[in-house]
Amino acid sequence: MAFANAKVLLLGEHAVVYGQPAVAAGLDLGVDATGEAGTWQLVCDAWGIDARPGDGTRVGEAFAALVERLGATVGPGASVRVTLTPTVPAGAGLGSSAAMAVATARAIADQAGAALDEDTLFDAALASERVFHANPSGLDHAVAMRGGLVSYVRGTPPLIRSIQSPAPLDLVIAQVAPGGDTGALVSGVAARRDRFPDAIGRIIESIGDVARRGAAAIGAGDVAALGELMDIDHGLLSALGVSTPELDAAVGAARHAGALGAKLTGAGGGGCMVALVTPDTASRVASALDALGATVYPARVGG
Ligand code: PMV
Repeated sequence: MAFANAKVLLLGEHAVVYGQPAVAAGLDLGVDATGEAGTWQLVCDAWGIDARPGDGTRVGEAFAALVERLGATVGPGASVRVTLTPTVPAGAGLGSSAAMAVATARAIADQAGAALDEDTLFDAALASERVFHANPSGLDHAVAMRGGLVSYVRGTPPLIRSIQSPAPLDLVIAQVAPGGDTGALVSGVAARRDRFPDAIGRIIESIGDVARRGAAAIGAGDVAALGELMDIDHGLLSALGVSTPELDAAVGAARHAGALGAKLTGAGGGGCMVALVTPDTASRVASALDALGATVYPARVGG
């Protein structure tokens, strides 16, 4: 059985596509994958997936891209049927497709008895992610591979740093709506940047600055500053055009219930928000989000 983490973006989504830093945390939620001898096939009952390379579906195409990149590692004769068991919701902005790709690659290598190095795994998962999101920053599968609290700057190679927090961070994640289309949302930000390059360029830089300060606040154990920076980040993401009335309502409800800060997380356009809480406020914030009809996932990261 191979596992890969889902992630929550604490700061920096969208700006990370333009080379700014982002801060993310691996979650206990994720995807388990098991490989067995068979023809190339990817099955996940919970997500309604039964895909094969070349079957004309997006998942089939992503699987084919993954298998192609793993070819030299697993050998020409290999052929594996992979079954996925997810604990993360699909397409909600928590990195489900990256967790699927990383867990699938690991299960294929295990079944083939092949050693899978980190670079090959990263490239294979990136090839799979490109099918779902035209211009992925690579952040999702970097966190899916290693978990933990990290700052991430895209590049070849990407700059991935662990962030040590002196105490764990308590989060309440809530899915308020079906996830938006990440590729379309990233393209929408690019189009707004083309229309207003100076204004949007400065917002993207501000998001990067907020992420840098957020990473430092986590390292210093300054949760009040981190919460404030998450609030600022939500405002900046709204200015990029990726929030929705449902996300704004959930963010407002979480703050009203005592969260230290709250923001949309991931690509936006629906999907999930994340609130930074304390052990004292966690249940009040979770109840407020539950009352809005959101699906609530409490999480503890770092520490
Ligand atoms: O919604 P998700 O989990 O696909 O996260 C997207 C994060 C973006 O910054 C919007 C895109 C990316 O590739 O980093």
